[in-house]
Amino acid sequence: MADLTSKIAIVTGAGQGIGKAIAIRLAQAGADVVVAELLEERIAETVDAIEKLGRKAIGVQADVRDNAQVVAMVNAAVENFGRVDILVNNAGTDIVRDLVDLSDEEWDIQIDVNLKGTFYCCRAAVPEIVKAGGGAIVNIASAAGYISYPGGTAYAAAKAGVMALTRSLAGEVGKQNIRVNAIAPGPIDTPLARSVFAEMAKRDDPAIFSSGPIRRMGRPEEIANTVAFLASEESSYITGDTISVSGGTYMH
Ligand SMILES: NC(=O)c1ccc[n+]([C@@H]2O[C@H](COP(=O)([O-])OP(=O)(O)OC[C@H]3O[C@@H](n4cnc5c(N)ncnc54)[C@H](O)[C@@H]3O)[C@@H](O)[C@H]2O)c1
Repeated sequence: MADLTSKIAIVTGAGQGIGKAIAIRLAQAGADVVVAELLEERIAETVDAIEKLGRKAIGVQADVRDNAQVVAMVNAAVENFGRVDILVNNAGTDIVRDLVDLSDEEWDIQIDVNLKGTFYCCRAAVPEIVKAGGGAIVNIASAAGYISYPGGTAYAAAKAGVMALTRSLAGEVGKQNIRVNAIAPGPIDTPLARSVFAEMAKRDDPAIFSSGPIRRMGRPEEIANTVAFLASEESSYITGDTISVSGGTYMH
């Protein structure tokens, strides 16, 4: 079992869906958690769930697209808990739209939340993880970064970018005892997935996400278990990699 006793973790987009499950799972493994989230009203439930486990949690309203808010998020972790050991870049968003119809704003929001936000959070947190003597970064990418599906160009480009950032950053910070990995989830049952799949269902395209050998959607906890593994010493020789947790929707 992954042991994160006395570790300090930051999880972005932790107010619902996969991020909420990750924050709770890391607390179950013994971590205290910074619950970072764009929407203030989503924070309390995750914080309460962690406190019920006997761990500490603070909520921080932070938009990962805003560097000043990201820096304040990392500062809040250090002020409240003294250091940062683990960063989970989970905040993400997805708009299903064919490229020819995609507006500049729709392109930008998908690149900015998924990719630039990951950059901002890594840039702010890495110096603190170095001060802590090392640690782990886990980025939530997507199977969409590997496959083709109509209406997915910006999201796919952003998530493939997250995988590339993961590899390059792992090379930069390995000597400082920081491992950097990503997870490529397949279809996971969350509010985001429900709206994306409803949008896809309106189209004539094949239901690519229901084609995996494990013939169901994944559960947020199934991503969270993999994050706990990648954040812990159990994965001490894994870095720069992207692990598929997709029910076989995508196979290498
Ligand atoms: N659900 C899936 O099928 C699936 C598949 C592959 C990858 N993913 C990825 O997993 C991650 C979580 O997805 P989910 O399905 O739980 O989504 P979700 O929409 O259910 O939850 C995402 C959370 O992130 C928050 N968020 C959005 N923009 C933010 C921002 N700019 N700053 C901070 N927080 C922000 C939202 O408010 C929300 O609470 C995302 O990166 C998503 O791309 C999801």
